[in-house]
Amino acid sequence: MARQAYRASIFHLLGDPGSGQHIEDGVLVVEDGHVAELGAWDEIAPRLSGVTVEHFAGSLIVPGFVDSHVHYPQVDIVASRGAHLLEWLSAHTFPTEARFHHKDVAAETARFFLDQLLRNGTTTALVFATVHKVSAEALFEEALARNMRIVAGKVLMDKNAPAGISDTAETGYMESRALIRAWHGKGRLSYAVTPRFALTSSERQLELAGRLLVEHPGVRLHTHLSENVEELTAVHRAFPDCTDYFAVYEKFGLATPTSVFAHCLHLSPGEWARLGKSGSGVAFCPTSNLFLGSGLFDLAAAEGVGARVGLGTDVGAGTSLSLFAAMNDAYKVCQMRQRSLDPFKLFYLATLGGARTLGLDDKVGNFETGKEADFIVLDAKSLPLLRRRLAHVRSPAEKLFAIAILGDDRAVARTYVAGALAYARE
Ligand code: GUN
Ligand code: ZN
Repeated sequence: MARQAYRASIFHLLGDPGSGQHIEDGVLVVEDGHVAELGAWDEIAPRLSGVTVEHFAGSLIVPGFVDSHVHYPQVDIVASRGAHLLEWLSAHTFPTEARFHHKDVAAETARFFLDQLLRNGTTTALVFATVHKVSAEALFEEALARNMRIVAGKVLMDKNAPAGISDTAETGYMESRALIRAWHGKGRLSYAVTPRFALTSSERQLELAGRLLVEHPGVRLHTHLSENVEELTAVHRAFPDCTDYFAVYEKFGLATPTSVFAHCLHLSPGEWARLGKSGSGVAFCPTSNLFLGSGLFDLAAAEGVGARVGLGTDVGAGTSLSLFAAMNDAYKVCQMRQRSLDPFKLFYLATLGGARTLGLDDKVGNFETGKEADFIVLDAKSLPLLRRRLAHVRSPAEKLFAIAILGDDRAVARTYVAGALAYARE
């Protein structure tokens, strides 16, 4: 691929929280799918003779969004009304996931899901498939065809679930191992060992999940932790020898620097401290937490122990695949905890924070030279309210905040994956 240059306002984060770089008239230079250069147009333009320049006047380029926790098979049950987590799982989630033993169902849903991610500006995601091996294969195949950075795995669940969506400790282990060998490190894909949560795995299954991690360094661990109070009570009953919920995952070697725990809403200070020490990452899923009435995430507690935090949509308990919706709800959840997040933090959580949480910040998350050129072009042409608001902002910070809060998929004009155009708004 030849050099290409993209001129617009550009914003990305070099670290957490304050190190945002906003270039009013900037240019992003891409070569072979990677970031070659970033800077002010005036400085770089003289060196761009012979390079094609696309000028997105009035637009903003930011890194592709990272969804740190989402279930692709749940796009068909998004916005299913119900009570709290455990009833919602049996009424809506388990029946729909049972259909994914069928390759055609899985492939068609994976195509829809990935196309929607691109439409929403999401270029990297940590994804639950279902218990069926074929559901993970279908997702990996479609992600490979789109050259997206997808981390995913087949679900492990050998108890408390209907027969059609259950495996056994042994088949779960064997199938996960086969998937790791086939897909981990292929293209831009990575594998995550994916026990659904403590309540749907036997001790033997959790033990074998730990073994998979030891046998395959670099493979991630992805599960749910401490989302709902009834879930907590049931976990205490199911694992009486564990002092708390996090101890269940610790016991089986699942709390590691490559682990990502979704939710973490009801952790004790002791659990937070141990999670911080373990080096595990956390997916903050505000839209889902509000929809299911699960609780209000404590971002300060996560930060206090140095945990890596990213934003997850958690569709289908989350009601949108858009990281804009997640930023909007993250802001409101933190307001409820007397903390007003600034726009740098919001974009951090949706980009670099997610990349760090998934252990991919050496590859994506911002525009440091050499990183993979996943980026999106945002504008307010199709959003009258945002367009109007942007005419009145007084600083780049106000502009970014208005975009974070008022943006949605209509703001995404283009999505580029490893330097190639993958989505363009009509
Ligand atoms: N806990 C276990 N499974 C699930 C799931 O599918 N969605 C959510 N939100 N929480 C879970
Ligand atoms: Zn989830």
